[in-house]
Amino acid sequence: MSKPTKNNKVWGGRFTEGNEEIVKRFTSSIDFDHKLAAQDIKASVAHAKMLHKIGVLEEAELVKIKYGLEKIKEDIESSTNSWSEELEDIHMNIEARLTDLVGVAGKKLHTGRSRNDQVATDIRLYMREAIADIKKELGKLQNCIITLAQSNAATIMPGFTHLQIAQPITFGHHLLAWNEMLERDYGRLLDCLHRLNECPLGSAALAGTSFPIDRDMTSKLLMFNKPTENSIDGVSDRDFTVEFCCFAALLMSHLSRISEEIILWMSQQFDFISIPDSFCTGSSIMPQKKNPDIPELIRGKSGRINGNLIALLTLLKSQPLAYNKDNQEDKEAIFDTIETILSSLKIFSRMIPGIKPNISRMQESAASGHSTATDLAEYLVKKGIPFRDAHHAVGRIVALAIERNISIDKIELSVLQTFCPNIQEDVFEVITLEGSVKSRNHFGGTAPEQVEAAALRALKRLEER
Ligand code: ARG
Repeated sequence: MSKPTKNNKVWGGRFTEGNEEIVKRFTSSIDFDHKLAAQDIKASVAHAKMLHKIGVLEEAELVKIKYGLEKIKEDIESSTNSWSEELEDIHMNIEARLTDLVGVAGKKLHTGRSRNDQVATDIRLYMREAIADIKKELGKLQNCIITLAQSNAATIMPGFTHLQIAQPITFGHHLLAWNEMLERDYGRLLDCLHRLNECPLGSAALAGTSFPIDRDMTSKLLMFNKPTENSIDGVSDRDFTVEFCCFAALLMSHLSRISEEIILWMSQQFDFISIPDSFCTGSSIMPQKKNPDIPELIRGKSGRINGNLIALLTLLKSQPLAYNKDNQEDKEAIFDTIETILSSLKIFSRMIPGIKPNISRMQESAASGHSTATDLAEYLVKKGIPFRDAHHAVGRIVALAIERNISIDKIELSVLQTFCPNIQEDVFEVITLEGSVKSRNHFGGTAPEQVEAAALRALKRLEER
């Protein structure tokens, strides 16, 4: 019917000259959006079924389209397919290949849709699948952390503020703090999924279509919660990519905080933990080195994810409605974010169970900073001394301990009584490390008993997801 065009065989009709090679290369997205092939095919099958239902496609045409799309899918899976830069993106590559395979029926598939609603649908489908994988991996990591916490419910270590030894805590309690950060990440991921799970298909270029399309049908076939409300918003909205990257940036911040602690704790100065050789690397020059490359890399990768978040926010800022080619730039940020967080979660889940606490060193360190001074002050308050006076008396006891280079629980009772006569023999039950952690026996506290209960609650929460 129409003359062959010098340009793109899908949209080249109104063009009298072809694009220069450099333009084709610059505008093409096939190098990266080929990752959307499976989703593009899935959405096309749903669209074709709907076109058949409303009478736009004959039964025989639907059969051909389904066969053609299935064949393309198989070719992609067996890597016998190649992509053409000439055809710009995944949508046009698949459509052209379909037409080569099944003829005229392939040319009818694009009735009542546009690449704008197609890409918006594909990317949501892709992210929805990725979110399902991320949910699983996040759960596995949390499980590893909780399990390690359970076996360290009574392991004593120093807790820090300002990176100075503050009060004795249990290692299990610290590990469960990590788990809480990840639990919030999980909540944010679910929240993002909820808003993402609407179907833009049928928005067409921006204004919908004159065909009597059934948007509920395509939405249901693709297992979305509902079709998007507004066709203009449907093709221009990329909020969900930003929300996802917000989730990812916070998750990576959390993994980087955990990484930083692992790195510190593995250092000779701390010597609190070790991780197996198989998760460390050596130095090309210093034969003695065992470096924590995995947590360092994760700490570093958090920068990339922050970068992706800023890229997406900037992509959207001031972009007029509806679709603009700017949006083609969302994909690499999303793909990179998904791949980075999945690989980070997976490697962390492998590494965490290998953490071995150096129990004696942790204990020794907890004892070194007069970390039970607050326990002594609270003891005095329980003996009727106002807190401010108790604080002052304990400050003087700590000064003596520093002078004698011993910990406060090594000062004789008679000497302690010179600072405050209310001190009795039972003081040693609370100013030892064990006494201190045991006494913090309330919901959310560090007592071993509480840690065990908190770990069980955390596991239950995981199971109930
Ligand atoms: N490759 C494009 C993207 O990723 C698909 C949509 C193109 N639409 C258009 N009107 N040029 O956004």
